[in-house]
Amino acid sequence: MVEPRRPGVSAALTAHAKFLAEFISNPGRMGAVAASSPGLAKSIANQIDFSKVNSLVEYGPGTGVITKELLARIRPGTKFFAIERSPDLAKICRERLPHLKLYEESAEIVDQLVRREGIESLDVVVSGLPWVSFPDALQDRILEATVRALKPGGKFVMFGYRVGLYTPAGRRFHAKLPKYFDQMGRSSSVWLNIPPALVFSGVRKAKTETASARTTSATSI
Ligand SMILES: C[S@@+](CC[C@H](N)C(=O)[O-])C[C@H]1O[C@@H](n2cnc3c(N)ncnc32)[C@H](O)[C@@H]1O
Repeated sequence: MVEPRRPGVSAALTAHAKFLAEFISNPGRMGAVAASSPGLAKSIANQIDFSKVNSLVEYGPGTGVITKELLARIRPGTKFFAIERSPDLAKICRERLPHLKLYEESAEIVDQLVRREGIESLDVVVSGLPWVSFPDALQDRILEATVRALKPGGKFVMFGYRVGLYTPAGRRFHAKLPKYFDQMGRSSSVWLNIPPALVFSGVRKAKTETASARTTSATSI
């Protein structure tokens, strides 16, 4: 007799299948064939001192692996929302994390969403976006919206695949970051991820060429 599949297992398989289907239909927007591993989610969250965080936004939560880790660590009362462009992945994320505030939008408008939420400026942005697969102009629009939304000294945390360090597109993208962020650093490799990844983080410059400086004193998170 065939054992009936457990609901949790079947939901996980649906999420994997949806992720892969999204990659096949739009590889440039997904940039990965599989969701991040729980180990990568932990490495990302380890970059953040949650005791100092009052407001945080996540870009591209996908099926919610990193989101789940962030939700487990934020203090009660922290303003937190996510921005996911894919309606199918947003649906999965909402089913898995019903209390999550999720905008089905592009991270290009993060500054507008932050204003809509009544947040003056963000303490932290966590990005799950596949930056290296994006066209240059989209990278620039999201980076510029990010520095408009993030407070000076606010933290920017993202992951990238190791292979991206060696490709021309990857090098071009990483060369842009010092224009917006100081103290850019990277973690050791997270090998238990498909593909192996690294976590990058920096703090928003006190003054940037694109952002209107609201404050000049920078406090690091
Ligand atoms: C590499 S996947 C990462 C998913 C998830 N964070 C993880 O680590 O498993 C990239 C995610 O970014 C989303 N995405 C792509 N472009 C976006 C945009 N402009 N704004 C918001 N989300 C976007 C994709 O739909 C996808 O969910």
